[in-house]
Amino acid sequence: MRSLLVLGAAFSAFNGAVAQLAAKKYLTLPLGEVRALGWLSDQLDVQTNGMAGHLHDFYNYVEDSDWIGGSSAYSSLEEAGSYWFNGMVPHGVLTSNSEIQTQTYQFLDYVLTHQETGGWLGPEAGNNRTRYLWGRYPFFFGAIQMVEYNSSLTDRVVDAMLKFVPLANEMIRNGEGLEPWTNTRWGDFVMTLQWLYDYHPNGNEDLLLDTMLQLKWSGVPWEEVFMAQNFPHGPVEDLVNPTGYVLTWHGVNMAEGLKALPATYRFTYNQSDLDLVSSGWDLLFEYHGRPSGIYGADEYLAGMEATRGTELCDVVETMFSGSYLYQMIGDTKFLDRVERITYNALPGTLTGDMWARQYDQQQNQIASKNMTTDPFAVNSGYSNVFGLQPYYPCCTVNHPQGYPKFVTNSFLTTADQSSLIQAYLGPLKTSTTLSGNNAVTVSIDTLYPFGDTLSYSVTASKAFTFYVRIPDWVINGTITTNGRSTKAVSPSNGLFAINIPSGTTNFILNLPAEITTESRLHGAVALHRGPLHYALDISFNSTVIKANAVEPRASDYEFDATSAWAYAIDPSTAKYVYSPPADGILPSPIFDQGLPPGSITVSACSIEWGLAGDTFVNVPPTKPNCTGSIETIVLNPYGSTKLRISEFPVFSS
Ligand SMILES: *[C@@H]1O[C@H](CO)[C@@H](O)[C@H](O)[C@H]1NC(C)=O
Ligand SMILES: *[C@@H]1O[C@H](CO)[C@@H](O)[C@H](O)[C@H]1NC(C)=O
Ligand SMILES: *[C@@H]1O[C@H](CO)[C@@H](O)[C@H](O)[C@H]1NC(C)=O
Ligand SMILES: *[C@@H]1O[C@H](CO)[C@@H](O)[C@H](O)[C@H]1NC(C)=O
Ligand SMILES: *[C@@H]1O[C@H](CO)[C@@H](O)[C@H](O)[C@H]1NC(C)=O
Ligand SMILES: *[C@@H]1O[C@H](CO)[C@@H](O)[C@H](O)[C@H]1NC(C)=O
Ligand SMILES: *[C@@H]1O[C@H](CO)[C@@H](O)[C@H](O)[C@H]1NC(C)=O
Repeated sequence: MRSLLVLGAAFSAFNGAVAQLAAKKYLTLPLGEVRALGWLSDQLDVQTNGMAGHLHDFYNYVEDSDWIGGSSAYSSLEEAGSYWFNGMVPHGVLTSNSEIQTQTYQFLDYVLTHQETGGWLGPEAGNNRTRYLWGRYPFFFGAIQMVEYNSSLTDRVVDAMLKFVPLANEMIRNGEGLEPWTNTRWGDFVMTLQWLYDYHPNGNEDLLLDTMLQLKWSGVPWEEVFMAQNFPHGPVEDLVNPTGYVLTWHGVNMAEGLKALPATYRFTYNQSDLDLVSSGWDLLFEYHGRPSGIYGADEYLAGMEATRGTELCDVVETMFSGSYLYQMIGDTKFLDRVERITYNALPGTLTGDMWARQYDQQQNQIASKNMTTDPFAVNSGYSNVFGLQPYYPCCTVNHPQGYPKFVTNSFLTTADQSSLIQAYLGPLKTSTTLSGNNAVTVSIDTLYPFGDTLSYSVTASKAFTFYVRIPDWVINGTITTNGRSTKAVSPSNGLFAINIPSGTTNFILNLPAEITTESRLHGAVALHRGPLHYALDISFNSTVIKANAVEPRASDYEFDATSAWAYAIDPSTAKYVYSPPADGILPSPIFDQGLPPGSITVSACSIEWGLAGDTFVNVPPTKPNCTGSIETIVLNPYGSTKLRISEFPVFSS
């Protein structure tokens, strides 16, 4: 039992009668002020035209007006509509799609008009169903984004939340509404309460703070989970969690729970809250990390083997958490990793047209089938099929937040709002007003990550400092300002400061990278260049295994390899080959077989490499013998491959 007195003591140390929340290092801009351009904007359109943009039309977890209909076990947490709303609010705004904006507005309106007099929000209202707190948290994130975009909604949303908070406080004090998912994902509610505290406390500061404390005390202690002596060094199915909180090693709980300690730091002022999550992040990737950027968790943390799975929800939740970690801690390692995840692991687990998604992706994935024996610990052999909701529906409704939130978190301001920070690189633009009424716009023309140069046009009514993140993989980056002098970029703590005068400034960043080789298990290697990870793109044929009568595009597919994949490579021969599109426009959708313009060629030879189950590959053989002559093979960006080898055995040519 943790002591209430310790936190109480921290409070009394505050100056003045009312406790202050610690400031965030960097602030996000309101939804709508940052937008995608170029290929990234096209990728959002692909999402509109794919499964995400159509869920409201045919998918019964979303289409029912009662938040989510249905009586399946899945609805017991009432999360589906809430997840959908959280992603589709920013998606609808960033794509200027009035139909989706109408859907999200109607969803909000329905939830608010059906609030119980006692304050409860959600489909249990008046339905005599057990109430659990967690399913509301993604809804709150969506509602906050809507208010940021449309301030005329402020009073309705804030009033409803402030009516919900006293009820939630009482429930937590009585031990009600808490179950294992609420107890691990409590940080998300703390963030919502902090948004109210920062912008709309309306005299409720004490209640808001007390509710944050109740959540921390009733929830699992993430600081214990991230302590080095407690952190698992391999797949967890045969390990005992020394903290006793078994669900903290669940992949999505981990992804969402990464936000808990930075959020509590705002009221504990305990530096070790920040230090432990930062070192815990490093441990997570050291012992479970994947070349695609994400970590392995085929339900629970899964170690390093290339055929263990990563759930799609881990991908999008880690992206969101990594953005928040940077905003609280200020270490660009979080941004470098989120960018890798976004440009590799996210597209790699969705078909190019975004009509089908996996539950679990594999680094070495030589088929996508309903496996009869499978390499996963908890998830079934159906988890790596591409389809509407293979294995479990959560990622169907949760994945749409991925790209939109990456965009909305790509520009930040300093806490005093005097300077702008670009956190993620890509074709983006922003239009905002910094402190001192300084109206600023930034527009970036680039193919990045499918090209190394980024052309900026910045306008400002007053001079300001613009900080651009320079990823740690950049070698000898340069800046050319107003077509004149070229000089080396010189980042400090990952950020390169550019003094922008009033008026219009144009500059070009050239951010090249070298091919790097990452060591993997069994003496295997994975190749990277800059933000992109490269894989052998295995050709495949596709068979519908579960047709969808309502929406034929939302069927489930098996993919069978139709090209060779059993190769060893000689990484010392790897060369980067780049042929940009002549008209400067990338194909759409870009993350599909053979379409991105950059590739890596490498010497390879055929080897004996067998299957472990009927449709998954054995571990990479160590020091294999070539069975064929040396040939050159081409590796493509991981995100464009659906079947692949990306952790290769090594030979010396
Ligand atoms: C609510 O559910 C409980 C338990 O199922 C039942 O006993 C009670 O009669 C129900 N109340 C209403 C108003 O439906
Ligand atoms: C903002 O919300 C109001 C309802 O409060 C609605 O009438 C209006 O159209 C919305 N504006 C935008 C830009 O979505
Ligand atoms: C700060 O957090 C650490 C790690 O959780 C804990 O050991 C320590 O007691 C905390 N300090 C205070 C003042 O609460
Ligand atoms: C997948 O395999 C399992 C176990 O063999 C089987 O029960 C299930 O029906 C299969 N699903 C489909 C869609 O073929
Ligand atoms: C980077 O620049 C340094 C100094 O000019 C040079 O020695 C080095 O070869 C360059 N590295 C690459 C990879 O071009
Ligand atoms: C797909 O390819 C596999 C492997 O070559 C083959 O066995 C199978 O018959 C093919 N299926 C279809 C539908 O073409
Ligand atoms: C490679 O060939 C040698 C000689 O035949 C053999 O001893 C060795 O086991 C082979 N290595 C592998 C990984 O098969």
